This record gives sequence, structure tokens and C-alpha cells, in this order.
Amino acid sequence: MDMIALGVSSSISVYKACEVIRRFQDKNCQVQVIMTRNASQLISPLLLSALSGREVIVNPFEEKQSQRIAHVSLAKEASLLLVAPATANILGKFASGVADDFLSTFYTTVECPVLIAPAMNEAMYCHRQTQQNIRKLKGLGVKFVEPEIGYLACKDTGWGRLASPDKIVEEGLMIIKKSESLKDKTILVTAGPTREFLDPVRFLTNRSSGKMGYELAEEALRRGAEVVLVSGPTNLFPPSRAELKQVQTAEEMKKEVLKHFPKADIVIMSAAVSDFMFAKAVSNKVKKEKLGENIKIAPTPDILVELGRKKGSKVLVGFAAETEDVVNNALKKLKKKGLDLVVANNVQAEGIGFESDFNQVSIVFPGGKSIQTDKMTKIEISQIILDKVEEIVGKKS
Ligand code: CTP
Repeated sequence: MDMIALGVSSSISVYKACEVIRRFQDKNCQVQVIMTRNASQLISPLLLSALSGREVIVNPFEEKQSQRIAHVSLAKEASLLLVAPATANILGKFASGVADDFLSTFYTTVECPVLIAPAMNEAMYCHRQTQQNIRKLKGLGVKFVEPEIGYLACKDTGWGRLASPDKIVEEGLMIIKKSESLKDKTILVTAGPTREFLDPVRFLTNRSSGKMGYELAEEALRRGAEVVLVSGPTNLFPPSRAELKQVQTAEEMKKEVLKHFPKADIVIMSAAVSDFMFAKAVSNKVKKEKLGENIKIAPTPDILVELGRKKGSKVLVGFAAETEDVVNNALKKLKKKGLDLVVANNVQAEGIGFESDFNQVSIVFPGGKSIQTDKMTKIEISQIILDKVEEIVGKKS
């Protein structure tokens, strides 16, 4: 049975939360209501407790010890955090990481998907600050049920009316379904650059930050997959539920990838594997007068080509870093490496790709068909890539 954490903030449409609770219960979900203090002035927590069959959480500091412990486990139990209705205030808190009551604190602790149904006056909804907060949250992977045009409590007609409980619950259920969509699948993701050493001090590397691969690993975990993340050196905080294997060189990455390949259903090679290494790596620091004679390069193993040969029914996804004729070059890589899909980006474009939180990619399929995304956060790009991967998995099974 899925557990919905239902955040309720102080919009006039707060009474519709009752309907939302009922509809989720009809779909065999449990609902734990979390109210903001202001919401609890508009409607009695007792009413929502009676409907949900669980004591409503308002202020953690007023709770009994036993409840407090139960609430800690709620973050682990919840399949979805839904905030309906969500005021401009709670959007602002979520967007800026303010955690000064239970609901906003809870948001900073959950790993489950988050869905927000805003409800407010049209001027507040359309205000640039509110819209900026919404964009920011969308960029962080939060989903929204947009409000509707209609009669508002302030006697205006306009944008800002809470979406219907039916629509909110339908969206929520779809998200929960998606969060199980990769259950029972093992995904092997590679990320980051590699380092090819000349001596203990100097190495050859590239500009990859690893962000794209780490977001793919996070999103795969959110969808219920087992994730093995083979990562070159990065400054990123690894997803806690992934099996992390840290490597430095292309050779080490190849070894680790081949070790985990047999159990993987899907492999996503987003690492920027160095194409070259030093022909001779030495254990002592090379003196500068002798640097010239030591700098001889040799190719590294192409990991994907090797995986392509052994792939069987596995889904294989590659990346293509290009500076010209992006889609055609990516298609050539797809064919050469036996891929099911290649994600290509123009690494010369400003403000996206290497080191950035944003990207804009072309997703290229075996027949040569491709789709181009807008410039988006790497979180959003990872969602699109995994949607496409799931379609391929569906066709193969
Ligand atoms: N790749 C790999 N092993 C390598 C080099 C690349 O597995 N030694 C993988 C990358 O992880 C990526 C894909 O191959 O998924 C394409 O990498 P890219 O650097 O764009 O292309 P290359 O094949 O290296 O070709 P080129 O550098 O000539 O564009």
C-alpha cells in the first residue's frame, strides 16, 4: 500500500484536501496529512485526522516522543510528497530551502517524488517571484499540477484556482507508478572524467564534472532501480542508495564496468572516458628536461565498443560529445558501438554541458530519428533520457 504524505497549506481551497484524501483512499493509498500552522487555523486538523485515520502533523516541537520517531520514518515510507493546496509562501520556502516548520523541513528530507498543486490569487501566481520559484523547483525535479482559470476566493476570476482533486490524484498516481517503473532493473551508470597518469603528479583528463551521470543515477534510483555508479574523480556528493565504485583511469573504469555488466539490464555510459593514455606511466616524477621523451600517447580501450559486442538483450546507451554535425556524428557512434540510443551534445555551446547544471541534447535513435530537448537542468534531461530508455525496455520485453 502506497503512503502519500499530503502537505496542506493555508489557501482558501484547503477544504479540497478532504476530497484529495478520499480519492487516494479509494485507490488503496494511505494518507498522512502534514498541515502548516496557518492551514490549521482555516480548517481543523481533527477533521483531516478523522478522514485520513492518522493524527495530522502540524508542529513537530509539540509532539510526543513516539510521534516524533514515527515522523522520522515517514520520509522513508512515503511514495509521494504532495502539497495541495500550495501557497506562494510554501513554494518560496521549498525553492529556497527554508526549513522552519514540519512541512518545509520534511521537504528537505524526502527522497520520494514531490508533486505540488498551487492555489492562490492570480496576481500572486503570475508574480515573477512566484514564477521564478516554480521554475527553480521544476529544475530540481519537482512536478506541478498547474492551477486552473476560474472563480477565485477574492472574487476575481483568473489563474490560480486549485486543480480539481480528480486531476491532482490522477497526476499523483501516475508519478507513483513511474517511481516503480524501473523496479527489478539494475542500471549501470558511468560518470565523470578519467585520469590517465604520466607519473605520480601529472595526468591527462577532460572537463567532465560528472553531473549528468550522477543525475541519471539519482533518477534511476527514484524509479526504483538498483544502481551501480562507476565514477571517475568528481567533486559531487554521490547518491546514497547507489553502489558507488570510484575509479581513476579508463583501464580501471573498464575493469569495474565489465565486473558489473553481467547483472545489468541497462548500461548508460555517460562518462567522458579519455581516448588517450600515456604509453609509459612511470612511478617517479619525470624531470622536466625529460618530459618530451616521455610524452608518448597510446589509445585507451573503448569500453562501449566492447560492451556493444557482448550486449545481448541489454539496453546500451552512449553519450556523444561533439563540436560539429552533432546528430550525424552521434549516429555514426551509435552504429559503431551497437547502441540502442545515443545522447549527443554540442560541447562548444555556451552555458550548457561540461561543468554546467544545464544541458541541451539531441537523443538519437538507431533509425536516425532524433529529438532535441530545450535547454534544461540535467535533472530534467535525465528524466527524458530514462523515459526513452523505458520505452526501449518495454519494446524489448
Ligand atoms: N567511450 C568509451 N570508452 C572510450 C571512449 C569513449 O566507452 N575509451 C564512450 C563514452 O562513455 C561515450 C561514448 O563512448 O558514451 C562516446 O564518447 P565520445 O568521447 O563522444 O566519442 P569517442 O568514441 O571517444 O570518439 P571521438 O572522441 O573521436 O568523438
